[in-house]
Amino acid sequence: MVGGNWKCNGNLAFAKSFPAEVLNTLKFDPKKVDVVVAPTALHLSTVQANTKNNVHVATQNLSLTGDGAFTGEFSVGMIRDMGVTHTLTGHSERRSLFGETDQDVAVKTKIAIENGMNVMVCIGEQLEERETGKTDEVNARQLQAVADELSEGQWGNVVVAYEPVWAIGTGKVATPQVAQETHAEIREWLAANVSKEAAATVRILYGGSVSDANAAELIAMEDIDGFLVGGASLKPAFH
Ligand code: 13P
Repeated sequence: MVGGNWKCNGNLAFAKSFPAEVLNTLKFDPKKVDVVVAPTALHLSTVQANTKNNVHVATQNLSLTGDGAFTGEFSVGMIRDMGVTHTLTGHSERRSLFGETDQDVAVKTKIAIENGMNVMVCIGEQLEERETGKTDEVNARQLQAVADELSEGQWGNVVVAYEPVWAIGTGKVATPQVAQETHAEIREWLAANVSKEAAATVRILYGGSVSDANAAELIAMEDIDGFLVGGASLKPAFH
């Protein structure tokens, strides 16, 4: 899977031109690779309307609430009504800038899956946590919250996006070895705490300063099953 996360970027003109100029020219076998793009909620329907190949359009977030008096939110029912089948949850920017807890992320993941969606759950450690040897502990804690909410079978609709926070938007990509080691730990965690099947089938994406310059050496690693791309997903290089 290759995902593009536009974050809070783009405008109406871009939401029309990027599908025409980049997304619709991608050549890939949709049976072998899922390509997913997550524009802002405002631009989502324009991107949907202008994307003509097998690229999935995703939301970056969803509400913990259903429909009702929840100003500024959008519910999973609305997302499904728009024909959207994929979403991110737990992006580190949601966690660190907007106060989402492990529990919020886990419940959002469950709500999305119970409504038939495929979820890219983002996890990852801060720089200080990496430097103090806490990476695996942090990932395990974030995953455990999700596991507490999901049945074993629901992991079939989960993709884990490992995004070390120190690598996001910094140009400091994890080396293939560092990313591989952490992905292998995540897979072991899934085997021990969810099921062997989940460990074998859940795709683990790497995110954090992925670009056309480093994607090839990262994807060569055994436990890296794709990418979640931020900045470079807004450029022709997403190609
Ligand atoms: P960058 O690719 O800009 O580092 O962002 C990664 C990311 O946060 C994707 O969700």
